[in-house]
Amino acid sequence: MTVTAAPRTPAEGGNDFVVVANRLPVDVTVTPDGTRSFTPSPGGLVTALSPVLERNAGCWVGWPGTVDGGMEPFRTDSGILLHPVALTATDYEEFYEGFSNATLWPLYHDLIVPPTYDRTWWETYREVNYTFAREVTSVAAEGATVWVQDYQLQLVPGILRQLRPDLTIGFFLHIPFPPAELFRQLPWREEIVRGLLGSDVIGFHLPQNADNFLTLARSVAGAPGSHTGQPDSLNVEGRASVREISAHITAPDGRRVGVAAFPISIDTASVIDTAAQVDAADIRHRLGDPETMILGVDRLDYTKGILQRLSAYEELLESGALDPHDSVLLQIATPSRERLEHYRRTRARVEEAVGRINGRFAEVGRPVVHYLHRSLGKQQLFGCYVAADIMLVTPFKDGMNLVAKEYVACHGDGSGALVLSEFAGSATELNRAFLCNPHDGDSVKRQLMIAVNMLRDTPDEARDRMLAMHSQVVEHDVDLWARSFLDALRSH
Ligand code: ADP
Ligand code: F6P
Repeated sequence: MTVTAAPRTPAEGGNDFVVVANRLPVDVTVTPDGTRSFTPSPGGLVTALSPVLERNAGCWVGWPGTVDGGMEPFRTDSGILLHPVALTATDYEEFYEGFSNATLWPLYHDLIVPPTYDRTWWETYREVNYTFAREVTSVAAEGATVWVQDYQLQLVPGILRQLRPDLTIGFFLHIPFPPAELFRQLPWREEIVRGLLGSDVIGFHLPQNADNFLTLARSVAGAPGSHTGQPDSLNVEGRASVREISAHITAPDGRRVGVAAFPISIDTASVIDTAAQVDAADIRHRLGDPETMILGVDRLDYTKGILQRLSAYEELLESGALDPHDSVLLQIATPSRERLEHYRRTRARVEEAVGRINGRFAEVGRPVVHYLHRSLGKQQLFGCYVAADIMLVTPFKDGMNLVAKEYVACHGDGSGALVLSEFAGSATELNRAFLCNPHDGDSVKRQLMIAVNMLRDTPDEARDRMLAMHSQVVEHDVDLWARSFLDALRSH
C-alpha cells in the first residue's frame, strides 16, 4: 500500500464505516529531520483488511507503529483514511508487549509458552482500550458501523456500547479462541467476556473457536461464586456454524449478541495477478537450480514451528531421504515482537539451526538452507511462492494462516504441494494438503516425503490436490469473508 506523504486533514466525525485495529496498515517512521516514511505493517490482519477498506471507503483507526508522539490523520493513495492512535513507551511495553503479547497471545495459542499474569499490564490494557474507543467516537458518524479487530482490543466493544449506543458494533478475532478450561486461568476473564459482549456480532475463524467462546461466556460470566458476584445472566442458544449466525447470547443488558465463524481469506484475484508477473525461474536459478525447493514464510513467532521444520529437514538430509546436492530450503522470517524473551530465544535457536545445517550439509557456494530475516515486497515474496515445489507451514497453533492460502493461490496451474499443520485454521478448508502434526517430527518428515514422492511419481494426483485447494481460495476470498461478516452485522 502506498501513502501520500503530505497529510490531508479529513472532516472528523463523519465516517459511516470505521475499522479499529491495534495497527494501522502502515508503520510510520519519523526521521530526526521530521521526514516520514511508510512501510507495510506485518501480519495477516493487515493483508486481509487492506483490500476491504479500499473497496468500502472506510476510516481505519490504529497505532502507527511508533511511540514518537501524536500524528495527524492521513490518507493512503487508495483512499483509506488513517486515523493514528498515539501510544506511549509505557503503553507499548505494558499493553502491546505485555498484556497483548505475553499474556493473551500465549493463552490463546494453547500455552505453547506460559502466559504472564500482571495486574499493571492489565490496567494499561484497559486504559489503552479506552483510548482506542475514544478515538473511534471522534471519527464515527451517528449510527455508523464500527468493526473492532483482534485480541488487543477486546474491551473496545463494551466501552463503545456505553459511550455511543447509536453505533452498530462488530468484533472479529484473528487468532484462535482457547478452550474454556484454558481461558479460565485469566484473572480478568469476566471483564474480557463482558467487553466482547458489547458487540452486536462476534466473529471467529472456526466454529470450534465460536463454540469455545459460547461455553466460556456461560461458565465464566454465569459461574456461581465468580468474583464480580454476577447472577447467571448469560443464556446460550444453538451452535455456531460457518458464515451464518446460528447462536445468540443474551448479554447482561438484555441485547442479543450473534456469534459465528467467518473463515478469513486473501485477496485471491490480486495474488493471482501478481503471481502472473513474477520470474520464478530466475529465483530457482539464484538458489542453484535445485531439484526440490522447499519454502517457509512466517513472522518469526514461536507458534509457527520454524525450528521444528528445520529439524525435520535436517534429519531428512542426514538420513539421505533428501539429497543435499539437489535440495534447498528457503526460510523467510519477518521480524516480530523482537524485545520479548520467547521471540529472542526462538530467533537465536532458528539462526543457530540454520548455521548448523549449512555447516553440516552445504558446499562452497551452495547452501542447503537460505534464510532471510526481513520483510519482502509482494512481487518478491510471491515469486518465491511460485518457484517453490513444496510449501512447509507447520504452526503448533494458528488462527488461520494466510501464507498457506497465498501459496495455493499462486499455483493455479496445479503445480506444487502444501505440507500443512493440522493445527492451522486453514487446514479445515485446505484439507487436500499434506496434513501433518508439528508436535511429531516424524509426521512432518513423512508428509514432506510423501509430497516429494508424489510430485515425482504421480504428478497428476498432486495436481488434483492443488487444483481442488486453488478452487477453494478462488471461491472463498477476503471479499466473501468481509461481506459475510458485514451482512450478518447489518441483518442482526
Ligand atoms: P500472521 O498473521 O500470524 O503473521 P498469516 O500467515 O496469517 O500470519 O499472515 C502473514 C501475512 O504476512 C501474509 O499475508 C504474508 O504474505 C505476509 N508476510 C509474511 N512474511 C512476510 C515477509 N517476510 N515479507 C512480506 N510479507 C510477509
Ligand atoms: O494475525 C495475528 C496478528 O497478531 C495481528 O493481530 C497482528 O496485526 C499481526 O499478527 C502482527 O503482529 P504484531 O502487530 O504484533 O506485529
